[in-house]
Amino acid sequence: MNVAFVGCGGMAAHYIGVYRNLDWVRLVACVDPAVPGATRDFAAALATEVDAVVINTPNSLHRAQAVAAIEAGKHVLLQKPVAATVEDAEAIADAAAQSTRTVGLYMSYFDQPLIHDLRDMVRQGWFGDVVHCYARLMHKGGMMVSREVLAGKRNWRASVTETGGGCFIQLAVHYIHIFEWVTGSTVVKATGFRRNLHCPGIEGEDLAVAVLQLDSGAMITLDTAWCADGEELTIHGTLGRVNYRGQQRLAMASSAGPYRGRVVEYSGGTEPAFGGPRGVEQQVEIRPPAFDDIGNPLNQHVQFLEAAREGRPAPVSIASGVHDMKVVWQFYHSAS
Ligand SMILES: NC(=O)c1ccc[n+]([C@@H]2O[C@H](COP(=O)([O-])OP(=O)(O)OC[C@H]3O[C@@H](n4cnc5c(N)ncnc54)[C@H](O)[C@@H]3O)[C@@H](O)[C@H]2O)c1
Repeated sequence: MNVAFVGCGGMAAHYIGVYRNLDWVRLVACVDPAVPGATRDFAAALATEVDAVVINTPNSLHRAQAVAAIEAGKHVLLQKPVAATVEDAEAIADAAAQSTRTVGLYMSYFDQPLIHDLRDMVRQGWFGDVVHCYARLMHKGGMMVSREVLAGKRNWRASVTETGGGCFIQLAVHYIHIFEWVTGSTVVKATGFRRNLHCPGIEGEDLAVAVLQLDSGAMITLDTAWCADGEELTIHGTLGRVNYRGQQRLAMASSAGPYRGRVVEYSGGTEPAFGGPRGVEQQVEIRPPAFDDIGNPLNQHVQFLEAAREGRPAPVSIASGVHDMKVVWQFYHSAS
């Protein structure tokens, strides 16, 4: 499988090793105007010998690049978010719907076995009925971007036109997607607050606090920031709950009994764990796999390449990413 990378910056560097280390894959072109050794010529990604194109560029470039690659008959893996606007995202989805190739969205969290365990736990009733999901996804990257921009350097993350917004579009799409996928429910309402409090020079928000309503009636609280840090995920149901903090520590309790998954180990307990007089809380350490771990059967790049080789759909569809974008837009329109 001959692959071209379009955009060879921060994210591409994390996983380019997948394409170098799989013996049935060959990286034949790297397109990037700012990276030494790469070509500026996008046409290199559409050359006849190229089978698959991996797009890792600023969001506002996704539409033109993805549509061109899809229309040239390539398999395409596109970084999240799908695009900088819903209209652009829909144009990519329309092109993908016409294609007979493997076209999908790269959602990095799907590499993590924990996310797949959580889905199984929910679907098997281990939490009972899900009532609330919480995620905090915050980092201080915006403060660095802010300093760069104030010093006169260009950075696409500072531009609403190039990103589509601020921290919320960049970060919230992960957990909107995860919670919908895990619970099997759909977000029907989104509102909240957004501000830029600590990152002058960045046009979009550096802090966003959102409340989302699922069609099941359950609620999601989603906090994102570029000016604070920390990561956490919680799912609360009528029988159990789980909390994952700092990409490391999973704490869980349930009265539904033991659970043994890919990485989650819960032995159960004799006392009612949840809703009883005392909870039987258990903790395990869970480390996420590296972006370029080709030994991880859930690695999204490996899964994309295998799907392309075997003529199957990509693990994450572009259409599902368009829905994430629509939730982001509902939040942007209603948030004050
Ligand atoms: N968890 C994740 O999966 C995750 C994390 C961060 C970023 N992203 C996404 O990845 C994409 C890239 O983000 P990044 O952090 O790597 O940004 P980056 O700024 O580090 O890299 C972007 C690269 O694109 C290049 N580029 C600009 N114009 C180009 C063009 N016309 N043709 C080819 N290359 C061009 C730039 O020179 C730069 O090297 C974005 O869509 C972003 O939302 C995903």
